[in-house]
Amino acid sequence: MDKSEKKKYAIKVKNLYKIYMIGTNKVRALNGVDFAIEKGTFCCIVGTSGSGKSTLLNMMAGLEPPTKGEIIIAGEHMERKNEAQLVNFRQAHVGFIFQSYNLLPNMTALENIALPLTFQGMDKAKRLKKAKKALKLVGLQKFGNHRPGQMSGGQQQRVGIARALVVNPEIIFADEPTGNLDSNTTLDVLKLIKKIVAENKQTVVMVTHDNNLASYGDMIIRIKDGKITEIEQNRQVNDNLDNVELGGTLDISSEAAGGTAMSAEQSVHQPEAAVQPDAPEQTAEAASVQTVKVPAYDGYHPQTSGNDQGSA
Ligand SMILES: Nc1ncnc2c1ncn2[C@@H]1O[C@H](COP(=O)(O)OP(=O)(O)OP(=O)(O)O)[C@@H](O)[C@H]1O
Ligand SMILES: [Mg+2]
Repeated sequence: MDKSEKKKYAIKVKNLYKIYMIGTNKVRALNGVDFAIEKGTFCCIVGTSGSGKSTLLNMMAGLEPPTKGEIIIAGEHMERKNEAQLVNFRQAHVGFIFQSYNLLPNMTALENIALPLTFQGMDKAKRLKKAKKALKLVGLQKFGNHRPGQMSGGQQQRVGIARALVVNPEIIFADEPTGNLDSNTTLDVLKLIKKIVAENKQTVVMVTHDNNLASYGDMIIRIKDGKITEIEQNRQVNDNLDNVELGGTLDISSEAAGGTAMSAEQSVHQPEAAVQPDAPEQTAEAASVQTVKVPAYDGYHPQTSGNDQGSA
């Protein structure tokens, strides 16, 4: 990617494949995918269940390695990085919003939001200050001391959004972020994400199975059976989108110290065996359960975290 391209695009994906072996079956989760997302775009990836949306998102975020192909973010090739480099990269450039919020139940809203900053090695006073700003941004000033179990789904997801925004990432990845919310709350949350990132010229990649929600995207990538069927540019339509009331503008400048890789890697058993796209079909033996690495911990996953990992 030359300099002007690097300036223009947040993400480039080239000839991307992800193939899983299940028994003797090859599952082509991604079967040759190409696209580029310009900076400042609210991009929606839409498709039915099993079409490959999460696989694509996880690969862009460097959470899963591709079988083949290239992913270029901020001019850097994700597929060439090792896990420690990926953790550093994510801490510096990326925020995540999950369908199931992934908040730590024993931490307050404020502590949850501050957690990614802990992993950047930022001191407590600074963390709290930034977390409070992010909390205000999502309109939850009064809920800072609430634990997730003491908040509604929509409020919890706002905390999840604040946590993704607190590190001031260039790119935010969201996998069905409104999947657990009712339709009114869904629209509120969607507009909130859209407005905040537009103000900060951030790029969002949101996965959804819902065509109606996808229509809020500036760019809509339709995916089916691991292939892109259509890419729609939709920016003008969305400029008319009405705004929601927010608690302020984001001023969470990234003066954070450089990220330090966490070493909370775990080996888990998963029914996956990545193979080359053009390789012959494998035997059942070769496709048996393998040990694969999950990404190093970066503050987003309750299941891999102890509550002693740090608090605001
Ligand atoms: N770890 C894995 N091992 C084997 N196959 C997998 C794995 N992860 C995903 N797949 C398969 O890859 C395909 C794409 O899955 P993916 O999770 O990306 O779909 P999705 O579009 O996100 O679906 P949903 O809307 O249900 O979340 C599916 O056929 C799925 O069964
Ligand atoms: Mg999915």
